[in-house]
Amino acid sequence: MSTLAIATAKEVFDLLSDDLRAIEREFCSDAVSSVAAITEISGYLREGGGKRIRPSLLLLSAKSQGYSGDGMIRLGAVVEMVHSATLVHDDIIDAADTRRGRPSANTTWGNAKCVLAGDWLYMQAFKVALDERNFRVLDLLIGLTQQMVEGELLQMEKLGQSISEDEYNSLIYRKTACLFEVSMRLGSVLALATDVTEERMGDYGRSLGMAFQIVDDVLDLTATEEVLGKPVASDLREGKATLAVIHALENGSDAERAAIQTVLIDQNFEVVTHAEILAILTRHGSVDYAMNTAFQYAEAARAALADLPDSDFKRALLWVPDFVVARDK
Ligand code: IPE
Ligand code: IPE
Ligand code: MG
Ligand code: MG
Repeated sequence: MSTLAIATAKEVFDLLSDDLRAIEREFCSDAVSSVAAITEISGYLREGGGKRIRPSLLLLSAKSQGYSGDGMIRLGAVVEMVHSATLVHDDIIDAADTRRGRPSANTTWGNAKCVLAGDWLYMQAFKVALDERNFRVLDLLIGLTQQMVEGELLQMEKLGQSISEDEYNSLIYRKTACLFEVSMRLGSVLALATDVTEERMGDYGRSLGMAFQIVDDVLDLTATEEVLGKPVASDLREGKATLAVIHALENGSDAERAAIQTVLIDQNFEVVTHAEILAILTRHGSVDYAMNTAFQYAEAARAALADLPDSDFKRALLWVPDFVVARDK
């Protein structure tokens, strides 16, 4: 089939539904401990839904390269467990009270239990990954975990400050795009791909992940909590300058810059309102600038697949960047 015909959401779901169900079963049986709090918190995270984009990428990567074994089910569960562990820790760090349209785990069980449940889930992910008996798999996952922790720490150090676009890029690579890259690379490792092919699949994941976080940050500014299922305008309230805000800081008047800085420093909208910030962003086309950057990353992701042989899985991979930039949650 020609790669020019881009897949639809239903086609992609049909293509992966059996494997995604198997991944849910794997996650379900992996996240069980004799200590009830761990099983309860892990179960709560898993049942909260979520888009399952990382395991889907791992499956599409492996399958588009001709792999069909059980390793992709185990490693699909691994990347979703790592993702869940980072979310539970992220909501503690960000003091977020909502996740996936429900109270966040920290709201229900408290920070102390959730830190430990997150740690347990990380280690369980590594334990399952160890079943592959493949050092390359561990190498990727260990590097990833360190990058994600570094990303969150760098972000914390920059709270309340305006950062450069380069700093923003390196931050979102670590906290988000790296896991997308590793999900794609793991598919290549399973398929015994050459280093060059693994590199290209990694490029796809990295560009897609960059687009994903830029859109996440735009949605934080423009979406509603009902649709998004997590708090909105929270980045500014936490003192985080994201791409559209960085653009406005660079292009706005002195007064506009001061208004944005007031919110970043105060970490509330008491002196300058959310609506005033949105008006500044609109005046300078800052949201459009951020979205255009996301479109460019989406295009770069598609371009990285140029040498991948045609298949339905490749068509699905070509569709994912469109989904990521057009999503509303
Ligand atoms: C949320 O990721 C964390 C970010 C990297 C922005 P997702 O938006 O993939 O979360 P779920 O799994 O679908 O809830
Ligand atoms: C997401 O950062 C990165 C993670 C590693 C979880 P955010 O703080 O923007 O994620 P959300 O918006 O809470 O999902
Ligand atoms: Mg957060
Ligand atoms: Mg966010």
